[in-house]
Amino acid sequence: MQKGEVRGFNEYYNYKMVPQEVACATIMSKEAGKRKLTKKEKRTIKIDRIKTRILRDLVVAMFFLIICLIFVMAKHVVGNIVSYDNEYEGFINTVHAFSLGNDNKDDSYSDSSEIEDGEWTTILVNKNNPIPDSYEVELTTLFNGVQVDSRIYPELQKMFDDMRSEGIYPVVGEGYRSHEDQKQMMQDKIDAYIAEGYSRSVAKHQAKKYVAKPGYSEHELGIALDINASEESGTTHDEVYQWLYNNAYKYGFILRYPEGKEDITGIDYEPWHYRYVGKKAAAKMYESGLTLEEYVESK
Ligand code: DAL
Ligand code: ZN
Repeated sequence: MQKGEVRGFNEYYNYKMVPQEVACATIMSKEAGKRKLTKKEKRTIKIDRIKTRILRDLVVAMFFLIICLIFVMAKHVVGNIVSYDNEYEGFINTVHAFSLGNDNKDDSYSDSSEIEDGEWTTILVNKNNPIPDSYEVELTTLFNGVQVDSRIYPELQKMFDDMRSEGIYPVVGEGYRSHEDQKQMMQDKIDAYIAEGYSRSVAKHQAKKYVAKPGYSEHELGIALDINASEESGTTHDEVYQWLYNNAYKYGFILRYPEGKEDITGIDYEPWHYRYVGKKAAAKMYESGLTLEEYVESK
């Protein structure tokens, strides 16, 4: 190798450079190999090397940027799915394997027009009217273990979807109760009053204002629900009750124990307790302000 010759010039360009630069460098190197490089040529080579490095670094940076973008997008999508599931925990149906909380619905259950209003929708159960002996329930189990009558499920699904689309996140705290559950609930309430210092007879009297006698509770029908705010959602109970008060009738549900009607229903005001009566009856009761007792009486 001659003094002044550019060592490794060809090799460098032949494997480091992009094609057009390789071509350019090759022409230059052929001439350069025979003589001493001029200052201008040296400068050109230096600039080409810098350009190559910049280009290579840009490609690497772009590659990492794309990887980061993919990662961030994937995290966002997965995060949404996870938080959605957490948010609506309690509404996955384990019987039909579809959900009150996402779009994974069973179409055979999504058409609420299939629900026929019948005697069962306006059946009156209160302190004077027990659950008929022959009454049978077919239940759908929600993710949180709460069960509801399968016939009301599609409208419940719709109502919850619509509520959530307005940023209000409800949960069914209580649905169907067996006779034994109702007995236990009554006993617990009586015990709680006794623990507060009330006599047994007063405790029983007080408990009956809030808990129906076993055999006389709509919860044993599976078509009455206690609906509250989902705890993690940030929604308040009042927001849920207000929304239900204004809209539940559109889905066939009525506020069963309204304020000021305690003498008729026999139960204190319960803003969370909604009863399925069918859309027509619900609309009439909503417009007239009649309780189920009054509505049934008026028929
Ligand atoms: N809380 C209602 C009245 C029930 O126990 O059925
Ligand atoms: Zn209730």
